[in-house]
Amino acid sequence: MRLVGRNFYDDAMTSDKRPRVFVSRIIPDEGLQPIIAQTDADVWQDELPPERDELLRRVEGIDGFLALLTDRVDDELLDRAGPRLKVVSNYAVGYDNIDVPACTRRGVAVGNTARVLTETTADAAFALLMAAARRIPEGYDYVRQDRWKTWGPMLLLGPDVHHATIGIVGFGRIGREIARRARGFDMQVLYYDVYPAAPEEEARLGARRVSMDELLSQSDFVTLHVNLTPETHHMMNAETFGKMKRSAMLVNASRGPVVDPDALYDALKNGVIAAAALDVTEPEPMPGNHKLLTLPNCLVVPHLASGSFATRGKMASIAAENLFAGMRGEPLPSFVNPEAYERRG
Ligand code: DGY
Repeated sequence: MRLVGRNFYDDAMTSDKRPRVFVSRIIPDEGLQPIIAQTDADVWQDELPPERDELLRRVEGIDGFLALLTDRVDDELLDRAGPRLKVVSNYAVGYDNIDVPACTRRGVAVGNTARVLTETTADAAFALLMAAARRIPEGYDYVRQDRWKTWGPMLLLGPDVHHATIGIVGFGRIGREIARRARGFDMQVLYYDVYPAAPEEEARLGARRVSMDELLSQSDFVTLHVNLTPETHHMMNAETFGKMKRSAMLVNASRGPVVDPDALYDALKNGVIAAAALDVTEPEPMPGNHKLLTLPNCLVVPHLASGSFATRGKMASIAAENLFAGMRGEPLPSFVNPEAYERRG
């Protein structure tokens, strides 16, 4: 069994005082094993998340909750968990599943897995961009359907990626890693973010901050890297699609509800934009009979952008460290709401 760090619960392990935690899915051993070794852990073993009622039952009286992005953490859950709960450690960088102010009000620390998945997620978003541009999934289908009879001068043509213009919406860690990759393809890099990057950072990444309208109208590829908030909900809609080039492609590896799926369907079907590649969807999971999946110019994969072996292990490790730190009342290595501790006095 592999452990990270020292065993914080050595004294308690021999008694019945080990902290009680609920882990809502099997995560990689880098995080799971230390949790099992050092706590009284209830680990949900199914492939699917617990139903809401079951989740509410499981969190009763726990000290720490290792949550997934499929678990809604809100007042109801926090009330059911009760006053022992000290920390919610989310196995994701995004935490739109968690009502953070509700946690803060109760002095419950919230952790996420920032930093460890940045490059892996950027790799995947760039892979989606490349695949959609160069029509890789359509080509694969073509071969599998035994339609490949000769080399075709006009077969499955797509736009060049190199020297094209990329518009990055949300210029946080992942957005900046996209810019770094785009530079390698000699792309012109535009970005939109409410917070400008430092001039030296813009120079390093060869990126220029523009308005959202300019980004939409100039970009050959628009790629989304924003958090899901009330402001970004359905930010890609009929109006914003209408501002994009007809030849442009959309990539979404942020959160599904940033894109209005009905508007995307209409835009793809009516040639308002050329293609889309989605790691995340609304609804999520997307049912196999969803209308977007009937379109050859819409590539959808099942929310796998952080899914490399190494990164999922690192996410597990930091999620465990967040959990332990929160139960000790110490600052979390990746802390979403440090102000929660001020509430505790
Ligand atoms: C996240 O971490 O927020 C991703 O969506 C899953 O890795």
